[in-house]
Amino acid sequence: MSTSSPSAPVTWPRDCWYGVGVSTAFKAQPHTIRFLGDQLVGYRDQQGEARLVQGRCAHRGCHLGGGWLEGGELVCPYHGWKYGADGVCNRIPALRPEESIPAGARISTYQLQEKYGLVWAWVPGESPVPTYAIEDIPELQGMHHHPKADIKYLFGGHFTRTIENGIDPVHAPFLHGKSVGQVSADADLTYPDFDVVNGDRIAKARFPVKVEKISGLVRFFLKGDADSIYKEFRFIYPNVTVPLNRFGSLAFASVMAHIPYSESETLVVATNWRNFLARTPLLCGWFDRETMKTGLKILTEDNGIVQDQFPRVVRYRGSNEVLIKSDGLVLEFRRVMRRFMEPPPH
Ligand code: FES
Ligand SMILES: [Fe+2]
Repeated sequence: MSTSSPSAPVTWPRDCWYGVGVSTAFKAQPHTIRFLGDQLVGYRDQQGEARLVQGRCAHRGCHLGGGWLEGGELVCPYHGWKYGADGVCNRIPALRPEESIPAGARISTYQLQEKYGLVWAWVPGESPVPTYAIEDIPELQGMHHHPKADIKYLFGGHFTRTIENGIDPVHAPFLHGKSVGQVSADADLTYPDFDVVNGDRIAKARFPVKVEKISGLVRFFLKGDADSIYKEFRFIYPNVTVPLNRFGSLAFASVMAHIPYSESETLVVATNWRNFLARTPLLCGWFDRETMKTGLKILTEDNGIVQDQFPRVVRYRGSNEVLIKSDGLVLEFRRVMRRFMEPPPH
């Protein structure tokens, strides 16, 4: 497994669970996942288990993303070598009877779990096996995942920049005025003190919704008093964010994986959750489509900024960026990253 990016050396977090795709993308047809400078292959086997394997065939380097499944096992499109779920090659069509399958005929595999509509992969560093359980997301309680509203969007930036974008409430009135709601020029855009809940690998904060004149779909749901209208953002180290919107009794949220490939390529995928419109098919379909449309518009607007941010990779230590109190959650994100990526010398 290579850790080099195509453009510049990048150090990736290791010994952690990454969101690597939405569950619905893992099907019987293998697909390519660009991840940590490598091209991997994802698929779902005959038992319905999601699988993620090295994309390079052990034989002569063909990309297995163009392959297919036979009996639930991955076949290379070049000379038909077949790999079992453990990554070991168990069939070589051109092997002579006196030959046996070489010991090196194997590809590396990842340990996976499915949770919150995402497939999560353990990326080993010092530990080949998981050392912790994927964090819970308590705010999703009472909500349902609507897979038809799953979305993906390719960002032209590093995942640390897309994550910071995803946990920053302050930019919304400026960047997303057209898609989620205008704000008047003299509106108070300060945020009251907010508590950041921080854990080992998480940071979370709640912000009151400041948009005065809401446009778009959201206006239908804007009921409740100020205390019950808020946004929450959760970051789960290293690459998942959970934005939540609550309008009184109505709540919707996304679980987003920022799948890193290089300094200038991050695929963001999102599963969408809500606690309403679960059983009315027509309205449900309409809301799913609206959610996707608005989500993609917002991500396109975000990418317009993120793709040009410099430096491309967030500096967790010694950055010369000037942060203020409203950037509190971003500061927490940097603290978590710094702790894991640049532990202090003992
Ligand atoms: S390169 Fe894969 S079977 Fe030959
Ligand atoms: Fe945004």
